[in-house]
Amino acid sequence: MADHTPVLPLKNVVVFPHLTVPLAVGRPGSLAAVESALAHAASPETATLLCVAQHADDQEQPGPDDLYEVGTLVTVRRLDRGEDGAQVLVQGADRVRLQDCQWNGEFLESDYSLLPLPTGEGPEIDALIRENHGLAADIARIIDPRNGDQMFQQLVMAVRDPLARHYRMASLASLPVATQQALLEADTLLDVLQRMHDVLGHELQVNRLRREIADKASRDIEQHQREALLRQQKQTIEEALGDGEADELEELRQQLDAASLPEGARKEADRELRRLGRTSSQSPDYQMTRSYLELLAELPWTHTTEDNLDLDHARAVLDEDHYGLEDIKDRILEFLAVMQLNPEARAPILCLVGPPGVGKTSLGQSIARAIGRRFERLALGGMHDEAELRGHRRTYIGAMPGRVLQALRRAEVANPLLMLDEVDKLGRDFRGDPSAALMEILDPAQNSEFRDNYLNLPFDLSRVFFITTANGLDTIPRPLLDRMEVIRLPGYAEDEKLNIARRYLLPRQISQAGLKPAQLPLDDQVLVQIIRRYTREAGVRELERALARIARKAARKVLGESTLQPPTADTLADWLGPERFFPEAARRTQQPGVAAGLAWTDSGGEVLFVETSWIPREDKLTLTGQLGDVMQESARTARSWLWSAATSLGLDRQALVDQGVHVHVPAGAVPKDGPSAGITLVTALASLCSGRPVRPDLAMTGEITLSGLVLPVGGIKEKLLAAHRAGMRTVLLPRDNASELKELPETVRDALEIILVERIDTVLEHACGLTRTAHDCATT
Ligand SMILES: Nc1ncnc2c1ncn2[C@@H]1O[C@H](COP(=O)(O)OP(=O)(O)OP(=O)(O)O)[C@@H](O)[C@H]1O
Ligand SMILES: [Mg+2]
Repeated sequence: MADHTPVLPLKNVVVFPHLTVPLAVGRPGSLAAVESALAHAASPETATLLCVAQHADDQEQPGPDDLYEVGTLVTVRRLDRGEDGAQVLVQGADRVRLQDCQWNGEFLESDYSLLPLPTGEGPEIDALIRENHGLAADIARIIDPRNGDQMFQQLVMAVRDPLARHYRMASLASLPVATQQALLEADTLLDVLQRMHDVLGHELQVNRLRREIADKASRDIEQHQREALLRQQKQTIEEALGDGEADELEELRQQLDAASLPEGARKEADRELRRLGRTSSQSPDYQMTRSYLELLAELPWTHTTEDNLDLDHARAVLDEDHYGLEDIKDRILEFLAVMQLNPEARAPILCLVGPPGVGKTSLGQSIARAIGRRFERLALGGMHDEAELRGHRRTYIGAMPGRVLQALRRAEVANPLLMLDEVDKLGRDFRGDPSAALMEILDPAQNSEFRDNYLNLPFDLSRVFFITTANGLDTIPRPLLDRMEVIRLPGYAEDEKLNIARRYLLPRQISQAGLKPAQLPLDDQVLVQIIRRYTREAGVRELERALARIARKAARKVLGESTLQPPTADTLADWLGPERFFPEAARRTQQPGVAAGLAWTDSGGEVLFVETSWIPREDKLTLTGQLGDVMQESARTARSWLWSAATSLGLDRQALVDQGVHVHVPAGAVPKDGPSAGITLVTALASLCSGRPVRPDLAMTGEITLSGLVLPVGGIKEKLLAAHRAGMRTVLLPRDNASELKELPETVRDALEIILVERIDTVLEHACGLTRTAHDCATT
């Protein structure tokens, strides 16, 4: 039995095992449950929740008795926060029975026991499966005679496992929650199939009847009769609504007059207005045309805000919102200076790149505030469809303008600062390539005549100030990247985080919780403890979340009876739960054969341990830990170099011939590739061969050549920040990277002893005291 897992109560929906489902999370208790799950997970991939349906959908704060007893254990795939609530993407894992569900003051949590997934086999089961597929396919065809078959294949038959497939059908069928719940509670596959058979049979009948009624109605009324009837209806309706309609038209006309449309748009508007006058307000066309005209009237064709290019003011605003980031603020001020001197110059397209939580999005907001532009944000992450950016033609039912025009309409001015978040996560598939549309949107030569499919008129985007953000540059198409000015935000050192927390995050969280600063004094020691023991990140998002938790708890204590004792270094665990990170380097490298390397990913720098051990000769060189090709080659190179240098290092070369070596790089989900682990691999192997452990507080990075040279690598700043975070004292770096050290915050430079190396020999000497004899050096 597992204990105290947060519970997410659900209205009107059941999450089935195997399925991935987006859920809207609005209620505070639900949001707190999701956040707690994320905060307590060792990594985001392992955050778990219990999704349980509630009996009644009008219970806003359900208690344990308002929930069903059987629910689904899910992993949290993603949490997206929006203005009104959040969306969480969960993947169903197991069926569970809740035990001892309780309200802990913030959200529901419960123990649970696992229920096995329903299984079974035999001819009856096979027959039912086939029968159910037939029924479901029939329903799909009735609902949509043209595409039903294809949809059924794509949505249902693409799922391999029969149980999962039936769960998928159930989730598509919009069934009452009690029926869904009964399906979830069914313990055998046979039971699931029989229940689905009943459901599908019923749905088929209902849909058939519906179709018959519709067909009959249209057949019964003869054509001319029908027309007469319609005409009469139209007349009656027009008489009843006549004035209202005319008013509406007049109002639209006035709005359009006020919108100062460019000539082409004005003509189109007049044409559509005339059409609207001829159309009955009951017809679907009427609504469509009206929405279109409303868009024309509401789009900011000419209205702009005036820029405030006063550099002192801009500097003051940027400083007010963000600590540090001096280089970046300087570059932004340079752009503003250029815009001031040459008003004709186009605003640059900035691309802010850096790990999560370093302030990219909030910096964009701050720039908008500094120069007095409206701010709008557009999330590109996961966008696959070109039409999302560029809109659908009006001939499509339910067509809408693309997200770019929608953002401009919201902004109400033609020159907002438009933040395109997560350009590196743009998708691309059969529905079209949104990056092509984006290229046009960002291209100064084309975007003054941007054409949205829905609007079908050119709209001038050249006045928009575009800022994009990304975690990494690798996935951004080259031509797109070429149009942007890249600004890197590398992540924060500990003392920078301390300052950010003290001056920005903590005051904000305290006021959001409705407290006064004096009610929750936290001294630096406590903040540092939170940074070291409860977060391990390049940015400050987890830190902000931890502070938010403390502030919420404090608010509750202030309301309750208990007097508020602010957290101290010793009582932190009562506020944030057990510590999540420990200084591990010393423990890891006690043994010979282990060395600490530094890696660089989209989420910042990372300390990676390379472990080696002897294995039987037949297994030669075994590599595990999901290493990429380049890293595997580095491992081979490392072994070859060591073999050739073994004798001169006083190592037993024969050992490398007689035995195989296993190289493992733990740290679960971090993608590991690139050549920068080269010297770490050699060091780990040399330590294994010599039996000498590597100095525990030492980390390194550098590519190697077969002849023993150390070549420069990327991401130096991020890597050094990570080494510092992990409590390392000494770092070995390629000499050719020396010039990048000046970008390092002083505190980090002072805390780390940085040794620049040119040859592997120097690495081994520092790492485990191995030296080569001068004579041998010359000959090998
Ligand atoms: N230098 C700073 N000074 C003050 N606050 C900061 C600073 N850097 C980040 N923050 C705060 O940290 C939080 C996270 O920042 P933000 O959401 O902008 O991160 P991001 O870089 O956009 O991350 P992601 O890549 O995940 O979108 C915000 O509340 C932001 O105000
Ligand atoms: Mg962001």
